[in-house]
Amino acid sequence: MKKQDWAERLKKLPPYLFAEIDRQKSSLKEKGVKFIDLSIGDPDILAPAKVIDVIYKSAKVKDNQKYALDQGKLSLRIAIKKWVKNRFAVKLDENKEILPLIGSKEGLVHFPLGFVNKGDYVIIPSPGYPGYRGAALFAGASVYEAALLRENNFLPDLGKVPIGVRNKAKIIYLNYPNNPTTALAPMSFLEKVVKFCSKYGIILAYDNAYSEIYFEDKPHSILEVKGAREIAVEFHSFSKTFCMTGFRIGWAHGASELVSTLLKVKTNIDSGIFGAIQAGARFALEKEQSYVKNLRKEFKNRRDFFIKNLQKIGLGNAYADSTFYVWVKLPRGIKSSMDFVKYLINEKRIIATPGIGFGKYGRGYARFALTVKKDILKKAIDLLEKI
Ligand SMILES: Cc1ncc(COP(=O)(O)O)c(C=O)c1O
Repeated sequence: MKKQDWAERLKKLPPYLFAEIDRQKSSLKEKGVKFIDLSIGDPDILAPAKVIDVIYKSAKVKDNQKYALDQGKLSLRIAIKKWVKNRFAVKLDENKEILPLIGSKEGLVHFPLGFVNKGDYVIIPSPGYPGYRGAALFAGASVYEAALLRENNFLPDLGKVPIGVRNKAKIIYLNYPNNPTTALAPMSFLEKVVKFCSKYGIILAYDNAYSEIYFEDKPHSILEVKGAREIAVEFHSFSKTFCMTGFRIGWAHGASELVSTLLKVKTNIDSGIFGAIQAGARFALEKEQSYVKNLRKEFKNRRDFFIKNLQKIGLGNAYADSTFYVWVKLPRGIKSSMDFVKYLINEKRIIATPGIGFGKYGRGYARFALTVKKDILKKAIDLLEKI
C-alpha cells in the first residue's frame, strides 16, 4: 500500500518511538550482535508465581472462556476498590467509579474518543509517554505540549498555557510518578492542577501507572485532592506494579461520568478482558503486597548502583526519584539525543531511549530503563566508562 493511502490522522503521528527502537534491535539480533537493552519499560522480573497458578486454573473455567462482561468482573472491581482504599484512603463505588482495562494504555488512548471534537485541544506533558499524543490525534484534537523542565522540578507551569488553549482544552494528561523524568508530584501541585481544571472545564486524565514504583516519597492519587472526583479519572496498571506487562490489564477510576463514557467507547471497540486474567489480577491485588515491596527493594538497589556509577563516569546529571528509569542530561557537547543513542547502539551496544522521542522538551536527555539485573547494569557501566 502506498503511504498516501493513509488516513490524515495516521499521517499526523510521529513514528512510534519504541517501534523504531525495536526495528534497530531486531536488526542487531538478525546479525547475531549481542547488546544490553535499557530501552523499554518492560521489567525482566517474573510476575508473581501464584498469579500464574490462578490464571491457569481460571482458564479452565467455562465462564472465563466466553466473552467477558464489558465492565469487568464485580470481584475484580471490589478488589480494586479495597486496594485503592488501603493505599490512598480514597473511597470508590465499584459500580460507577471503577473500570478494568486491557492495560492502562488501552484506556488512556481510547479516553479522548468520548470527549474530543475537532478544534479542541488536548494538553500533554512533554517529555511524556508517547501514547497521549496518539490518543489526542486519533480523536482529532490539536495537541499542546506542556513543558516539564528541570528548573520547575519537571512539573508543568500551568500559568504558561496560553488562554486560547485553556479555553479550548478538553483534556489534560498528567503522569506522576513520571515517565520519563522520574519526578513525583507534591500535593501542593496536584491541588493547583485540580483548581486549574475546574476553572477551565478541563478533564484531568491522571496516569498513575507507576504509583507503586517509588523509593522515598509515596506517590498520591489525584482523588486525594478535594474537587478531583468531579473532574478527574486516574489510570492504573498491573504491568509495572506486578510485572504483568504481557497480560494486558489495568483499570481506570474516578468521576462516574468519565468512567461511564470510557465504558461506552470501549463497548464499541472491545469485548472485555479474558476472565482468567481478571482473576489473576484480583489475586495480585489481594495477596501480593510483599511481592510489590520486594520489587521496590530490587529497583532501589539497581537505581542506587547505577546512579552512583553514572556519577563516577561523568554522567551524574541524572534523575531517578521514582519509576525504574533514569533520566540523564546529555554530557556537554552532545546536543542531539538521537545521535547520543545511535552512538550508544553502534559503539557500546547499549540501547537507551532518546529524550526527543518523548516530545520536544525531551531534547538533550536520554532515558535508561533499569529493567535488567545488576550484573548487566555493571557491564553497561563498564562499557559507558569511555564515552
Ligand atoms: C506512563 C505510562 N503510562 C501507561 C503505560 C502503559 O502501561 P500498560 O502496560 O498498563 O498499558 C506506560 C507503559 O510503559 C507508561 O510508561
